[in-house]
Amino acid sequence: MNQPVMGGVAAVNAPASVKHQKLINWVAEIATLTKPQSIYWCDGSQEEYDRLCQQMVASGTMTRLNAEKRPNSYLACSDPSDVARVEDRTFMCSAAKDQAGPTNNWTDPTEMRTTLHGLFDGCMRGRTLYVVPFSMGPLGSPIAHIGVELSDSPYVAANMRIMTRMGQPVLDALGSDGEFVPCVHSVGAPLQAGQKDVAWPCNPTKYIVHYPETREIWSFGSGYGGNALLGKKCFALRIASNMGRDEGWLAEHMLILGVESPAGKKHYVAAAFPSACGKTNFAMLIPPQGFDGWKVTTIGDDIAWIKPGADGRLYAINPEAGYFGVAPGTNEKTNFNCMASMRSDTIFTNVALTDDGDVWWEGMTKEAPAHLIDWQGKDWTPDIARESGRKAAHPNARFTVAATQNPVIDSAWDDPAGVPISAFIFGGRRSTTVPLVTEARNWVEGVYMAATMGSETTAAAVGQQGVVRRDPFAMLPFAGYNMSDYFQHWLNMGRKIAASPAELPKIFCVNWFRTDAAGKFVWPGFGDNMRVLKWMLERIEDPSGVRVGGVDHLFGITPRYEDVNWDGIEFSREQFTTITSIDRDAWIAELKLHDELFDKLQQRLPRELLEVRAKLEKRLMS
Ligand code: OXD
Ligand code: MN
Repeated sequence: MNQPVMGGVAAVNAPASVKHQKLINWVAEIATLTKPQSIYWCDGSQEEYDRLCQQMVASGTMTRLNAEKRPNSYLACSDPSDVARVEDRTFMCSAAKDQAGPTNNWTDPTEMRTTLHGLFDGCMRGRTLYVVPFSMGPLGSPIAHIGVELSDSPYVAANMRIMTRMGQPVLDALGSDGEFVPCVHSVGAPLQAGQKDVAWPCNPTKYIVHYPETREIWSFGSGYGGNALLGKKCFALRIASNMGRDEGWLAEHMLILGVESPAGKKHYVAAAFPSACGKTNFAMLIPPQGFDGWKVTTIGDDIAWIKPGADGRLYAINPEAGYFGVAPGTNEKTNFNCMASMRSDTIFTNVALTDDGDVWWEGMTKEAPAHLIDWQGKDWTPDIARESGRKAAHPNARFTVAATQNPVIDSAWDDPAGVPISAFIFGGRRSTTVPLVTEARNWVEGVYMAATMGSETTAAAVGQQGVVRRDPFAMLPFAGYNMSDYFQHWLNMGRKIAASPAELPKIFCVNWFRTDAAGKFVWPGFGDNMRVLKWMLERIEDPSGVRVGGVDHLFGITPRYEDVNWDGIEFSREQFTTITSIDRDAWIAELKLHDELFDKLQQRLPRELLEVRAKLEKRLMS
């Protein structure tokens, strides 16, 4: 039941089961500031989810899809001004500017609090404030943490139920004094008495603000993705990276997958790629022809929280419970398992609606349907698209779906203990320069590879697309503190593991995206990435490289043509050379780009990384 807030007085009417006075007081404080019409505490039940969705259908935010084609599924279309993460409006407001570092936007926290106080004052008028208790990670896991999001968006509440463990069990776990990260979110569109709402309320003024010392998140003006689902990028990466630095663990922009050989030997690897570079596809990979008996299973597709266990090894959990993936380009061939996950119980955002009440996006089928309603509600036909260039789905259109719907979910995906990590993989989107795969010779060289990773920008964030930017560890938009200190933290973690009985995970650098002279991708990618994964596993199992070798070069160790399994594919030695060769001039230019990043990071940059840089230059010049 929605509970009215009488005359702006914060009568929060928490359910009787809520015994957490600090939580109640905080909800009251935020309600007093934001002045919602009512307050609703989410219990996380299916009945509640169905009701919220039904309410959004009635208000025009969502369309219910054809129940026969796509049971229990909905399409939401956002305002065209609110379609992606807003990195230039994202702030890390640490007490000191150099704590945030040169890669984050920073404003003095006192000044920011004053600005936000003004914006949030009365910003929920006419709306319901949803209290959304959520756990990042399995409840009770020593690696998990709890948050509570107060949001005036039912779309956020419904998505959070899929993306996190949300509702009453979390309130129960909080008890009377459990810790939680407070997250305040408003679309920033108060309603006057009698004012009719719009389908996707938002505000042209946007602020995504983090206070790392007090572990708080405040988000204003956007209802979209990582701007609004605050458990994801804001908590699980920006705030959690601060927690990890202080407490000796890692919060990373990484998928986690399990890979099992026909002999039953299983490893887990964690892989970092920038946004919209195929993490979900890699996490659900189906081994190609010639890989009978190999199995790939998913722990997570976007974020990993990784902690040293008592044995010194790193153990990882997926803090999320669902996937908020990019729809365009996803199809039965590129990601069969993902398509299977979305057959029912899915929220689609900014894809197109077919005439029979289903969804479509660019790349879903070879032939586009003859007619669609595009993500902006306009008629769309292939002819209109040819003439206008208008896409049926926004390039950053998304699906939200529960992890449990993934047919290849790993049996340990919900294990509170996490899974042991055997290797880290780092990959950017580079049409040139970076080889298909390289193994770092040691931890420091691997940290250097990850730190200097470059990638061509995608539609996941507002801004120009296709320009190469340095994206260290795929964490440029997500590292919640000084990037130099973040590199140091990785070096320290390596030192700690090296001093324990555990073996250091191997570090690999990959690039699926090299193109030929005509600009076409050379590497088939998707399922064929299994070929690279298999080489990595054999290197992990046989670090001496006697059985499966590679060549030492400028940037680490790369397999020779004969070290890769080519069963079931025609891929020539020449093609392989095209994507594994090191071009000296390109690398001289690349090192200059590493220098640009290092110059930006300045004095706090760990010395070890500069030493690797010097060695690289020496090899390049010799
Ligand atoms: C995401 C992103 O949504 O990285 O995962 O933008
Ligand atoms: Mn991501």
